[in-house]
Amino acid sequence: MKRIVSGVQPTGSIHLGNYLGAIKNWIALQNTYDTLFFIVDLHAITLPYDTRELFKATRDTAALYLACGVDTSKASVFVQSHVRAHVELMWLLSSATPIGWLNRMIQFKEKSRKAGDENVGVALLTYPVLMASDILLYQSDFVPVGEDQKQHLELTRELAERVNNLYGGRKWKKLGGRGGAIFKVPEPLIPPAGARVMSLTDGLSKMSKSAPSDQSRINLLDPKDVIANKIKRCKTDSFSGLIPNPPEKSLEFDNPERPECNNLLSVYQLVSGRTKEDVTKECQGLNWGSFKPLLTDALIEHLHPIQVRYEEIISDSAYLDSVLEEGASKAAEIADATLKNVYQAMGFLQR
Ligand code: TYM
Repeated sequence: MKRIVSGVQPTGSIHLGNYLGAIKNWIALQNTYDTLFFIVDLHAITLPYDTRELFKATRDTAALYLACGVDTSKASVFVQSHVRAHVELMWLLSSATPIGWLNRMIQFKEKSRKAGDENVGVALLTYPVLMASDILLYQSDFVPVGEDQKQHLELTRELAERVNNLYGGRKWKKLGGRGGAIFKVPEPLIPPAGARVMSLTDGLSKMSKSAPSDQSRINLLDPKDVIANKIKRCKTDSFSGLIPNPPEKSLEFDNPERPECNNLLSVYQLVSGRTKEDVTKECQGLNWGSFKPLLTDALIEHLHPIQVRYEEIISDSAYLDSVLEEGASKAAEIADATLKNVYQAMGFLQR
């Protein structure tokens, strides 16, 4: 059975971008693939953070995975730091990662520019090596993520190939190993819709946990009135600022001059479970005044059951702990086997 891994950082609240770009797709995939979903707490300390918030967000994120429909009879759910092999493999991979590859990462450049020099630790630079380790440890075939992770996935693939070339094949066999490839080279799985959910206050920036204004995102745990208010106040057509009295224009997908329109229609399409064609037809004659209530209702209807399940799960600590413990022990079995091979192939004495 082909394998899939993916994860979300426990920083701030999980929002609609994380959900539509990643988590919602995991749910369908768990029926046909061997799946492991982790909460990447070690990645969450790569920028200054609050220790109590990390603690809470790690549990919340795990509970939300389950509330969104991750089924523990099919998928393993665990906390990244509970499987030690992630950090161990990262060190080994670091030795094979040219620093230039890391300097080129767009997310590193963006995050370090925002954080300011004194807040940029070494871990922010080596972040993608830990991510590669998360993926390669499990010999994953596919990694379902949003578009913003594409470059990290490319680095993971290049790193897998580099380590396979440096230490795999005949060299490994001579050391008593099985020879051949050490790592499987994984493919990203980026959804056709929802891969880049945009901010509610600027259709040209992606929805993000770190944007200062909470108005820019819908969090999965936002109450109904907050959702309604955010949609009521969200930005609609950017061209309305340029044209003094914009004509009432019908709503449409894929007009590059109307990024907010495309984004809100896409969100509506995904949360209402309709096809793009259906939404196009339904919204053709609508203006913002009549569309916004439809979108609000669809969001509330979609998120409400998730919020109810989340409350049940988060209040049952014993259950959540047992899920995470079981997930970590299944994951560790796979991870330790890969790690052992890597040590052997790299010429370390076997323990
Ligand atoms: P993170 O925590 O930033 O985001 C988690 C997932 O949500 C997706 N995403 C979005 N998708 C659509 N629109 C958006 N506006 C949006 N914002 C975020 C991300 O693409 C991601 O899929 N480095 C990763 C976490 C990670 C990981 C891994 C993922 C660490 N190790 C191994 C996969 C496999 C990250 O920071 O995601």
